[in-house]
Amino acid sequence: MTKFLWGSATASYQCEGAWNEDGRVPSLWDVYLHENQLEDGDVASDFYHHYKEDIRLMKEGGQTSYRFSISWSRVITDKFGTINPKGIAFYQRVIEECLKNDIEPFVTIFHWDLPDYLEKEGGWLNRSTVDAYLNLCRVLFDKFGDKVRLWATFNEPRYYVFSGYFIGNYPPAVHDAQKTAQASYYMMLANAKAIQLYRKMKQTGEIGIVHSYGPIYGVDDSSETKQAMRDADNYYNNWVLDPAILGIFPKDLLEKLISSGIDLSFIQENDSQIFKENTVDFIGLNYYARVIIAPYKEGETVLSVNNSGKSAKGSSKIVVKDWFEQLFDLPDAEYTDWDVEIFPQGLYEGILMVHEKYNIPIYITENGVGVYEDVDHPIEDNYRIEFLNDHIDAILRSKKDGADVRGYYVWSTMDLYSWKNGTEKRYGLVAVDFNNQCSRKPKKSYYWYKKVCDSNGKEIQQNRKYKSKGISTLSLIRGEKDELL
Ligand code: NOJ
Repeated sequence: MTKFLWGSATASYQCEGAWNEDGRVPSLWDVYLHENQLEDGDVASDFYHHYKEDIRLMKEGGQTSYRFSISWSRVITDKFGTINPKGIAFYQRVIEECLKNDIEPFVTIFHWDLPDYLEKEGGWLNRSTVDAYLNLCRVLFDKFGDKVRLWATFNEPRYYVFSGYFIGNYPPAVHDAQKTAQASYYMMLANAKAIQLYRKMKQTGEIGIVHSYGPIYGVDDSSETKQAMRDADNYYNNWVLDPAILGIFPKDLLEKLISSGIDLSFIQENDSQIFKENTVDFIGLNYYARVIIAPYKEGETVLSVNNSGKSAKGSSKIVVKDWFEQLFDLPDAEYTDWDVEIFPQGLYEGILMVHEKYNIPIYITENGVGVYEDVDHPIEDNYRIEFLNDHIDAILRSKKDGADVRGYYVWSTMDLYSWKNGTEKRYGLVAVDFNNQCSRKPKKSYYWYKKVCDSNGKEIQQNRKYKSKGISTLSLIRGEKDELL
């Protein structure tokens, strides 16, 4: 039995900075943020120059694994596949530094920062991006495969595609259901092909995918709500989990897409074999909140998410015409300033749902809470300690009930650039003073997490607030009853 991994996570664009150093070329995020004069990640947490200090802090903080991603634009600098030796050397140093400190590197190959030279060719709407991605994988497996045991092909394809192609709040910033379906499909195809390559290259570690997991709950147990829950589950989860783990897309999802006017002619005949034969070794789940669903009633599709925090609290609204509505205003629920519900029980039930449906090893690859914090003072983040405690408790309970969970990663290792939410939304165990050369200062939660890691979870207090309202998909699978909302 391998040891449970206690770690934390980051992503290249969100923490590295050094956006044009040592041969790195722009990603679609650099271009989008610069062109629109939005807060960017040019410097971010400056991990590029602070990685030794950060890895030392992980080690001193008791952590045994670090999940990070590779900036594609740093390692391959044009569409012809030219390798940048300085980019490779940087990740070599990061990996070496982890190993020296007994920290297991967990590498995400793609965490949203597509090189702009590929975006200009159509990005994930172009089948040839799958080949470019495979070329990247080949280089990474070849250079780092002997040192890295844990690989994730993609981070949150659902979040990336929906934000970039459906909601339009992330680059390439379009609102188009057809493009959403097409980009999603190509990413999942790329996932299967990367797994095929990994095995062909006789790599000896494990390869999986990281999913933005939203366990689905319904407002009542009417048949309309159950149908809306199923459609929402397909929309939020199953189009990633089913092909990745089972090698097939849900039939009712494809039917629903066709009846919603989506042209699926981008699917080629030979693809289904590739999906079937190349499924993941494990699933990575990023958990922030559950999703509460009611049947669709009327009106056009509305997709407003809160990227502004306090000033827009309560403004989130999601209605997908003819599919479902999502609720953000439950009477007794607790929400962050960004409208994210705090609901640890959703992680417990969500893990068991995945376990019962797919029976697969699980890593909780991200979990954390984003808040405003003033780094001029010591950060006594008791709210984060409570949040992490209750979520880790949920994981430990799910393990007791049979789920094969093998690791947990706090999001994030240190404060970083939170995409459209900027740097003011802080998630780190370690504070970063963005106005003072990105100096680091551990928060209270960092010391608390050290005790959790050192005690292998014995430090965790049992969460008092188990009971959940709303009909969970887990209870539907099991034929049990939950309390109505
Ligand atoms: C998921 C993403 O993987 C990460 O990039 C993001 O910053 C966090 N969630 C927090 O929203």
